[in-house]
Amino acid sequence: MAYEAPKNILIPAEDIQRRVRELAFEIGRDYADDAQLHFVSVLKGAFVFLGDLVRSMDRGVSLDFMAVSSYGKSVNSSGEVRLLKDLDSGLEGRNVIIVEDIVDTGLTLAYLQEILRARGPKSLRTACLLSKPSRRKVDVKVDYIGFTIEDRFVVGYGLDYAEQYRHLPYLAVLD
Ligand code: IMP
Repeated sequence: MAYEAPKNILIPAEDIQRRVRELAFEIGRDYADDAQLHFVSVLKGAFVFLGDLVRSMDRGVSLDFMAVSSYGKSVNSSGEVRLLKDLDSGLEGRNVIIVEDIVDTGLTLAYLQEILRARGPKSLRTACLLSKPSRRKVDVKVDYIGFTIEDRFVVGYGLDYAEQYRHLPYLAVLD
């Protein structure tokens, strides 16, 4: 079957680029000039956001990755999340920023914040490209949000449906 890109564009590439630069500026402004920042990103959906975000940062940055999944979807109803890949290095004394693609129910992020906070970072903040507040099941703090959206299934800019569409430079609605 021929490949067809989704045409129902929710957020064009230029708007995403502009907003990500603003988020990088806000993050930089919130830390002292000499603070080295450690970005912890969740595979795979956040990889494009992370790439653009760190390239707009005005200071030293280090990166690490983790992967979570999936009892069926990304979490089950009790909020249990399975850790598929842990970080390569510790977080003690570091200024850590979790980078996520989207906060939906909030269960994944609540779990990540809890286990990362237990590792003794100097500070822990969270940046999410997208938030769907109407779907929230747990109250989770997100310090930097790119866009707040309605309850629609979105793809592109790292987000997938069945591993498709991650490469699109814009965000599109699939349903
Ligand atoms: P939460 O634990 O319900 O907040 O789930 C967040 C995860 O669900 C994200 O990291 C995505 O992997 C996935 N997800 C939620 N909504 C969407 C969407 O609209 N498109 C693609 N993935 C989504």
